[in-house]
Amino acid sequence: EKDLGSDLAKVLIPEDRLQAKVRELAAQIDADYAGKDLLLVGVLKGAAMVMADLARALHSPARMDWMAVSSYGSGTKSSGVVRILKDLDTDISGRNVLIVEDIIDSGLTLSWLASNLRSRGPASLEICALLRKPEAVRTEIDCRYLGFDIPNEFVVGYGLDYDEKYRNLPFVGTLAPHVYGGTAG
Ligand code: PRP
Ligand code: MN
Ligand code: MG
Repeated sequence: EKDLGSDLAKVLIPEDRLQAKVRELAAQIDADYAGKDLLLVGVLKGAAMVMADLARALHSPARMDWMAVSSYGSGTKSSGVVRILKDLDTDISGRNVLIVEDIIDSGLTLSWLASNLRSRGPASLEICALLRKPEAVRTEIDCRYLGFDIPNEFVVGYGLDYDEKYRNLPFVGTLAPHVYGGTAG
């Protein structure tokens, strides 16, 4: 068991629930893409864990590619600016693309990314997100595969960071307010 220290307030989603949900999502994806080529697009860095576990839980073959975009920098609030730090290696035109994300918070990253990828002419484009915060419900993002709706707290672990830390936790936890000095959102 990892040391929670004093920086984490609580475990929100334990490792066994995360893993069970990822297997559930993989089974749905397997069924929906049976007989089709699938390209998983993981969004670095946050989606690294869910992408790795989801891909291994799939029974059908899939390609994997990665994009790195950032909208947060080192703070806890979205800057409103999405930057491509690393683009895909793959030409996605005519491919069945599934974007894999760790979290939809404001929805800014995914709405920008989905329209960017849609403009490249994929055969299909769907979204799989492990976590979704309340604010995202108001956006128009059509998330086909969703893990958990979570409360509006600052969460870390299983890919999610605060100031690049805590991504390696095997569970999702909430950060103690004293660490980031304010309210979530
Ligand atoms: C985080 C998270 C999502 C995005 C969600 O990424 O991993 O990609 O923010 O926020 P939004 O819905 O408000 O856009 P971040 O920009 O922190 O980069 P990272 O994945 O490298 O941590
Ligand atoms: Mn991210
Ligand atoms: Mg981040």
